[in-house]
Amino acid sequence: MIAIIGGSGLSQLSNLDITRREVVRTPYGEPSGALQFGHLCDQRTVFIARHGYGHTIPPHAVNYRANLWALKQAGAEAIISVASVGGIAEHLGPGTVLIPDQIIDYTWGRKATFFDGGDSPVVHVDFTEPYNPELRQRLLAAAKRSGEEVVDGGTYAATQGPRLESAAEVNRLERDGAHVVGMTGMPEAVLARELETPYAAILLVSNHAAGRGLSAHGIQMEAIEVTLKQAMGRVHRLLQSFCSSCT
Ligand code: HPA
Repeated sequence: MIAIIGGSGLSQLSNLDITRREVVRTPYGEPSGALQFGHLCDQRTVFIARHGYGHTIPPHAVNYRANLWALKQAGAEAIISVASVGGIAEHLGPGTVLIPDQIIDYTWGRKATFFDGGDSPVVHVDFTEPYNPELRQRLLAAAKRSGEEVVDGGTYAATQGPRLESAAEVNRLERDGAHVVGMTGMPEAVLARELETPYAAILLVSNHAAGRGLSAHGIQMEAIEVTLKQAMGRVHRLLQSFCSSCT
């Protein structure tokens, strides 16, 4: 079964025919909302809205451990994250879809591990390739089949939020080697790794990052919403193509 975590602009998966909703409790507390089970092109799929179905949970307050644990317990064999990001690199303007291959973590104070002491031995998971390479390739192949143009690779800077960045912070992220910036990529990716579940992301650029391009003098939230609405259809088609190839 495929799991999809929907971010801003994707709190419902319109092409998922939902057969069941389940409210799950985990040892780590409550997930962002009920799990929605159904089929996406005949492929068994479980969906959760990262920010809750009313989009009320800010990035720093998402219970990432509960979400990941719940999906794993539900039988997820692969997890695809969908998230909106700001484009740092010039060629990554609004509407671009990107399958990242690296992460830099700038978040702090989040519950970022299942290996949190207690009686179990210390575990240091390998995170050289934070996104599962095989799942990435499958997403890229699905994009090719569906005719959707996607950017292969890029470094995701995960910031704490919920505020957006200053222009100087974006300059620093670029110097660090980041191409896009978002607020939810971590600890989600590493928690999936700790659960030994392949994880990859589809990133939708909703705006130029602060101080860049159309955001030279500020980020317009209304423009973000318009872009998300317009471009989410592309993400849907990509997911549909991905799931069609799974069966
Ligand atoms: N910064 C951080 N997170 C984001 C952005 C951004 O510009 N756009 C969408 N998510």
